[in-house]
Amino acid sequence: MAQPLWRCGVFMLALLPLLFWFYQAQQGLLGPDPGKVLLEHLGEGALILMLLTLSLTPLQRITLWSGWSLIRRQLGLWCFCYASLHLMSYLAFLLNFDFSRLNHELWERPYILLGFGAWLILLLLSLTSNAFSRRKLGKNWKLLHRLLYLGLVLALLHLLLILRSDFGSWMLYAGVGLILILNRLFGLRSP
Ligand code: HEM
Repeated sequence: MAQPLWRCGVFMLALLPLLFWFYQAQQGLLGPDPGKVLLEHLGEGALILMLLTLSLTPLQRITLWSGWSLIRRQLGLWCFCYASLHLMSYLAFLLNFDFSRLNHELWERPYILLGFGAWLILLLLSLTSNAFSRRKLGKNWKLLHRLLYLGLVLALLHLLLILRSDFGSWMLYAGVGLILILNRLFGLRSP
């Protein structure tokens, strides 16, 4: 009984910011460039969800509570959902679906390639997150899903190249990311 409640709570917590931002956009509360603000919120949300997904294993070891692992797939899929909406906002609001501009855009905003690389990793991991793929891939499944760390590095570099002045938030995200990567490399291993 506690498990569905826990999963349901996490589902609501992940859904609420989306509903709130879309409500704000619809009410005209996101300023003169709502598309850009939405894009930024979704990108930041995807990064936070990525960090949270990677935090679950260390949290489980620290707290000795197995409940964290119950929401790993759910959080990972939410991260993919936010990142996909972020990509859609880019295509809709910045590119206006004018794909002939893409070549010029990539020269002007090379960080997009890093974001796209991170999104491709999220896509691959989402497609293989089901029980069938887990069974089929066997031991390789865990190895494949460690690609999320590479996705995190790409997302952090994506953000670093965008920053114009505010390094504070980037340092915070990168600091948490570094701790998670170091913990993966040198911390306690899963049995
Ligand atoms: C699918 C490919 C992606 C594209 C085309 C893309 C594009 C963009 C663009 C155009 C911006 C705004 C840049 C500006 O302010 O001038 C941005 C910001 C950002 N993106 Fe992405 N992105 C992608 C993937 C990702 C992924 C996978 C993540 C994280 C997991 C991410 C995280 C962020 C963050 C955190 C920001 C900054 C938000 C802020 O300013 O608060 N992006 N992205």
